[in-house]
Amino acid sequence: MAPSDPKTPARSTLRGQEANVRSQRRRWSAAVDRWDHHGVLGLEKIISAVVEETAALRPGLAVDVGAGTGAIAIAIASSCGRVVAVDVSQAMLDRLSERAAAEGVTNIETVASPAELLELDAGSVDVVVSNYALHHLLDADKERFVAQAAGWLRPGGWIVIGDMMLGRGGDGEDRAIIASKVGVMLRRGPAGWWRIAKNAYRLLTRTAERPISMAAWAGLLERAGFVEVTTRRVVNEAGLVKGRLPGPNR
Ligand SMILES: C[S@@+](CC[C@H](N)C(=O)[O-])C[C@H]1O[C@@H](n2cnc3c(N)ncnc32)[C@H](O)[C@@H]1O
Repeated sequence: MAPSDPKTPARSTLRGQEANVRSQRRRWSAAVDRWDHHGVLGLEKIISAVVEETAALRPGLAVDVGAGTGAIAIAIASSCGRVVAVDVSQAMLDRLSERAAAEGVTNIETVASPAELLELDAGSVDVVVSNYALHHLLDADKERFVAQAAGWLRPGGWIVIGDMMLGRGGDGEDRAIIASKVGVMLRRGPAGWWRIAKNAYRLLTRTAERPISMAAWAGLLERAGFVEVTTRRVVNEAGLVKGRLPGPNR
C-alpha cells in the first residue's frame, strides 16, 4: 500500500469513499437480523480475544468503530466508564441499543457515522477498538483511520483491531489460510464450491471486503506513531493487532 497523506484524500479518492460508504450502509442496514442471529457465530474466538484485550485496559472511554449490533460494545461496557459505539448503519445501532437496554447496560452511547468521517476530540479517548469492520474500508481510508485514531487517543491510549487479516496470497501465511478454507469448503460439496467461487470473487475484486495482512496492519500502526505494536493470529483468517501511543501506560 503506498503511503498517502493521512488527512487529505484526493478528489477521486473521495468519490470512491462516498460510494463505498453508501454501499456499506445499504448492505448492513439490510443485514441486521442476519448478523444479529447468525453472523456473529463463527466469530466467537476473535470477539472473545478483542473483548479480553480491551476490557483488560479498563478504559474510561472506549470507542467501538463498526460496532454492529454490539458484540464488542456490550461485552466491554462493564469494564469501561463509557463506550461510544459508532457504525455507518443506524439500523445496526438501533438493534445495539435494544440489546443493551434488554441487558441493563446503560453506559453506551451510539453515533451513526462512517468511520471515514468520524470526528472526536483530540486526546479524549482511552481505547479505540474495532472488530471485523475495518476491512470494509478502502485501503487509503484504513491508513487515514489509524492516523485519525492516533489523534483521538490520549497519550498512552491503545488501539485494538480484530479483523479478517489476509493478503491476496502473497506470502506463505496467506496461502496456508486460503488452502485451509478451500479444503473445508470443498468437503461441503456443491454448497461449499459455490462459497469458494463467491469468496474468491469477493477477495479478488475487493468490492465489499478488502482485507489486508496482519503485517500490513502492524505497519499502519507503526507509521501512525503507535509503539508496542503486537499481532496475534486468533483463528483462520481472524487476527488481532494492537498498539499504544507513546506516553504513560495507565
Ligand atoms: C461484520 S459487522 C461487525 C460488527 C461488530 N463489530 C461485531 O463484531 O459483531 C461489520 C460492521 O461494520 C459496519 N461498517 C461497514 N462499513 C463501515 C464504515 N465505513 N464505517 C463504520 N461502520 C462500518 C457495518 O455496518 C457493520 O455493522
